[in-house]
Amino acid sequence: RKRVAILISGRGSNMTALIEAARDPAYPAEIALVLSNRADAVGLERARRAGIRTTVVDHRAYPNRAAFDAAVNARLGVEGIDIVCLAGFMRILTADFVSAWHDRMINIHPSLLPLFPGLHTHERAIEAGMRLTGCTVHFVRAEMDSGPIIGQAAVPIAFDDTPDTLARRVLAAEHQLYPLALALVAGELVHVRDERLVVHSALPLDMSDM
Ligand code: GAR
Repeated sequence: RKRVAILISGRGSNMTALIEAARDPAYPAEIALVLSNRADAVGLERARRAGIRTTVVDHRAYPNRAAFDAAVNARLGVEGIDIVCLAGFMRILTADFVSAWHDRMINIHPSLLPLFPGLHTHERAIEAGMRLTGCTVHFVRAEMDSGPIIGQAAVPIAFDDTPDTLARRVLAAEHQLYPLALALVAGELVHVRDERLVVHSALPLDMSDM
């Protein structure tokens, strides 16, 4: 099983979905570490309760992004991490860090990328009059919220949705999508060619209902 680190900054509901999926011994990844840049992230306590090793690398303790990223990278190295999952990790990573984890670091974003990169995605989707939005898991590249797409889930926008009601519906889809996408990567069922995803094995049948 691949050793996975999940990087969080907040509540960690996607982290929890990954931890729960990885409880199944047949799942191709184990969650070896949860790392937060904030000591008060609610997700840290959830991870500890689930028996996962946690660590805090406080960005305020470093003079710049490069020093912070080097500290995170050192910690991932010590833990023998194979794959990094960003799950509500709200720090921009340096190009050096991103290239060190090329095709080994994935992120979940609450929109159908390349639409609505950045913040306030639900507000912007409603404002644009979209009738559908969703979430995306993608390999991380230096440009924020870009990179080869591993999976997406579409979610309808109701006429009376607010950013909050829509966020709840998208979040439920995120919790389904992220474990599936990580299984594709950790199980080596997909790879990247010409910056697009290539599926190189038939998906196991029992993954269709994850
Ligand atoms: C999720 O909706 C995730 O897609 C989003 O933050 C939330 C984290 O929730 N990520 C981003 O906006 C990244 N730019 P969680 O901590 O409960 O998983």
